[in-house]
Amino acid sequence: MSDTPVLDVRALSVEFPGRHGTLTALDGISLSIQPGEILGVVGESGAGKSMTGLAVQGLLEPPGHIAGGEVHLAGRRIDRLSDRDMEKVRGAEIGAIFQDPLTSLNPLFSVGQQLIETIRQHLDLGRREARQRAVELLAEVGIPAPDERVDHYPHQFSGGMRQRVVIALALAARPKLIIADEPTTALDVSIQAQITALLRRLCDDHGTAVMLVTHDMGVIAETADRVAVMYAGRLVEIGPVVEVIGNPQHPYTAGLMGSIPELGARKPMLTQIDGSMPRLDSIPRGCAFNPRCPHVMEKCRTDRPELVVSGSGASACWLNDKEDVA
Ligand SMILES: Nc1ncnc2c1ncn2[C@@H]1O[C@H](COP(=O)(O)OP(=O)(O)OP(=O)(O)O)[C@@H](O)[C@H]1O
Ligand SMILES: [Mg+2]
Repeated sequence: MSDTPVLDVRALSVEFPGRHGTLTALDGISLSIQPGEILGVVGESGAGKSMTGLAVQGLLEPPGHIAGGEVHLAGRRIDRLSDRDMEKVRGAEIGAIFQDPLTSLNPLFSVGQQLIETIRQHLDLGRREARQRAVELLAEVGIPAPDERVDHYPHQFSGGMRQRVVIALALAARPKLIIADEPTTALDVSIQAQITALLRRLCDDHGTAVMLVTHDMGVIAETADRVAVMYAGRLVEIGPVVEVIGNPQHPYTAGLMGSIPELGARKPMLTQIDGSMPRLDSIPRGCAFNPRCPHVMEKCRTDRPELVVSGSGASACWLNDKEDVA
């Protein structure tokens, strides 16, 4: 079925039991990504962006665990698989790209050895074909002279080229979904755009779905199709990038927009958000954003707004509650 999303996350909650009670790190997150689509995930530090990616990949650090909800990959439920089956899903069906390319690369092996090992783990190819495929992958991610570079070691590449190698590695098994967590944060600004353009092209060429986690609204504006905005472990707004950026429905999203310099300059009425994200052990009642919200109402301090669909997007804010306005 072509309209089955590659990733379908339904009411996902993640908890960390601790000595002083249970912390809710993710609280009812629902989102989906279609084939060939890039979903940006934004929010300030601690919003739960990385946690969402880790939960989807079954990589939560115990005692952290999925406490509710479901994760479906291409129509198959994956949140209840055994560790062994989940390991097969990672690598084969989900590719991961992290902020620091060196966490994904082993300094002791050439990039070719690492690519070939991954390719042979997941695809039924002999050594020579796997090596050929490794060279093709390096070419595809824009590494010059790939048939020489395949025998080089990670330290022989620049930061940007290393991240390209990591992308090649993430693509090696032809995954349906790529989870990229701050893939350009550690790179020079001039290289960042090249890497995001590369992700965009790969997504278009192969129909790969991409979850692009970043705190940078500028990257989202340039790269993503839709964007999910997170705050204190909750989804506060989701929708097409153009709409969310041009006409944010949630005051938190509007505040984040003020942090894109170019767009901020054109929209002088947007201000920086005062205060900071609450810790997990002190998430306010009602709307978690209420202490920082310029439009806070009485209700926001007591009642939690649910995500309400309007048009092609959705937001969780009492301001958008039509019944209340009427
Ligand atoms: N192992 C853990 N145990 C308990 N809480 C954790 C653990 N790891 C992360 N957290 C908490 O979960 C919340 C979400 O963290 P997460 O790493 O997803 O944030 P993020 O949005 O990716 O932020 P950043 O932009 O800094 O990467 C934070 O409050 C964090 O302190
Ligand atoms: Mg993170």
